[in-house]
Amino acid sequence: MKTRIEWVCENTRLLGAIAEEFRQSRPFAGKTIGTGIHLEPKTVSLLLTLQSGGARVVSTGNLNTTQQEAVEYLKASGLTVIGGATRDLNEHRGFLTAVLAEKPDLLLDNGGDLFDLFRRHRYPGLMGGTEETTSGRMRLEPLREELRMPILVINDSPIKQFAENEHAVGQSVLESYIRITNRVTNGQRVTVFGYGACGRGVAANFKNARAKVSVVDRDPLKRLQAHLDGYDTPLRKAAISSADLIITVTGASGILGAEDLPHFKHGVILANAGHFPIEIEAEAIAASESVCERSRFSDGIKTLRLRDSRRIHIIAQGHVFNLARPRPMGNSIESMDLGFALQARCLEAVALGNVGERHCVVPVPRDIDERVASAYLGLRY
Ligand SMILES: NC(=O)c1ccc[n+]([C@@H]2O[C@H](COP(=O)([O-])OP(=O)(O)OC[C@H]3O[C@@H](n4cnc5c(N)ncnc54)[C@H](O)[C@@H]3O)[C@@H](O)[C@H]2O)c1
Repeated sequence: MKTRIEWVCENTRLLGAIAEEFRQSRPFAGKTIGTGIHLEPKTVSLLLTLQSGGARVVSTGNLNTTQQEAVEYLKASGLTVIGGATRDLNEHRGFLTAVLAEKPDLLLDNGGDLFDLFRRHRYPGLMGGTEETTSGRMRLEPLREELRMPILVINDSPIKQFAENEHAVGQSVLESYIRITNRVTNGQRVTVFGYGACGRGVAANFKNARAKVSVVDRDPLKRLQAHLDGYDTPLRKAAISSADLIITVTGASGILGAEDLPHFKHGVILANAGHFPIEIEAEAIAASESVCERSRFSDGIKTLRLRDSRRIHIIAQGHVFNLARPRPMGNSIESMDLGFALQARCLEAVALGNVGERHCVVPVPRDIDERVASAYLGLRY
C-alpha cells in the first residue's frame, strides 16, 4: 500500500511539474539549501522538488511539528535531516545551528529563525532565500540593514494570503478542532483573536459550522471589517467571558494569560493557530495559584480545574494546533502546492541572481505570482 506522503507527492501537481522542469534546468546545481520548516508530507514534496533542481538539502523542522515519517522519507531520499520532534527551544536552536554549520548557499526559513541566527553567526557565501510566514517577516524587517540580501517573503504574496491563509487555514483549524476534541460547533460561542487573513478564514469556517462567532482585533479597521462581515465585535473582556472556544491567530504574544483566568467561562477551550506558542501563555495559566488540579488527556488536551470549580481546557499547550497530533493534516494539499510552488520559484530566482539586495524582505515578485497562478489554472481538476 502506498503511504500518505506518496498520496501528497502525487497530488502536489504544481511541484511535480516544477520538479520535472528542474531536472533539466538544474537551478541549484552545486548549491546547498538549508531549511527550517515543518517537516510533514507536503514539505517533503517541496524539499524533493528542490533536490530535483540539483540542491543538497539540509533540513530541520519547527518546534513541535516534526513528523517522524516525513523525516524517515526524506533521509531515505538522500536529504540530510537534523534532529526530530521537540518542544524544547534550546534543543530546537541546536538543530538550527547545525543546519547553518553546513554553510548553505540559500535558506528557506519559516519564522525567521535561520536568518536571525545567521546574522549572529555569519559565514561567507549566503546568497539569500525565502521566508514563509508573517511572523518571520515581522522579525526580519528590522534586520534589513544587517542582512542586505534577497529574502522573498512568501506570506506576502496575494496567492498565499487568499489561497492558504484565508481559505485553507480556516478549513484546517476547523477540521483540527473537531478531530482533536470531537466536540460540537453548532450553537457554540467562538471568539477569534486576530482578523487578518488567517482569522478571517477561521471565523468564516466556524460560522459555516453554525457557531456564533465574535472577533477581537486591536485594529479598529479590522474590527469594522469583521462587523461588516457579520460578526460581533465585543470588547475583549466580554468576548473572553462569553466564549466556549477561543482561538488566537494574531502572530502577537500574550493574547491570553493568567490574568484572564477570572473571566473564562466554565468549560472554555483555548487553542492557538498562530505560528509561535506565544499567544496563549499556557504555562503561566497552568501555574496560576487559582488552579488546583491539572490533568492531561491524550491528543494533547490539558484540563485545569480552578478553585471555584470551573474547568479550562488548553489544546496542544498553546502550540499551533492545526499541526498538532493526532494525525495532523495541516492545510489542504492544493493550497500548500500553490505556496510551495512560490517557494520553489523564489529560491530559483535567488539562485539565478534574478533578485538582489534591494529585494531584502519583500513580497514575492509579481511575475512569479502570475506564473504560479497561471500554472494552477492550467491544471485540470
Ligand atoms: N496555523 C497555520 O496553519 C498558519 C498558517 C499561516 C500563518 N499562520 C500564522 O497565523 C498568524 C496570523 O497570520 P495572518 O496572516 O492572519 O496575520 P495578519 O498580520 O494578517 O493578521 C493578524 C491580525 O491580528 C491582529 N492582532 C495583533 N495583535 C493583536 C492583539 N494583541 N489583540 C488582537 N488582535 C491582534 C492584527 O491587528 C491583525 O489584524 C501568524 O502567526 C502566522 O504566522 C498560521
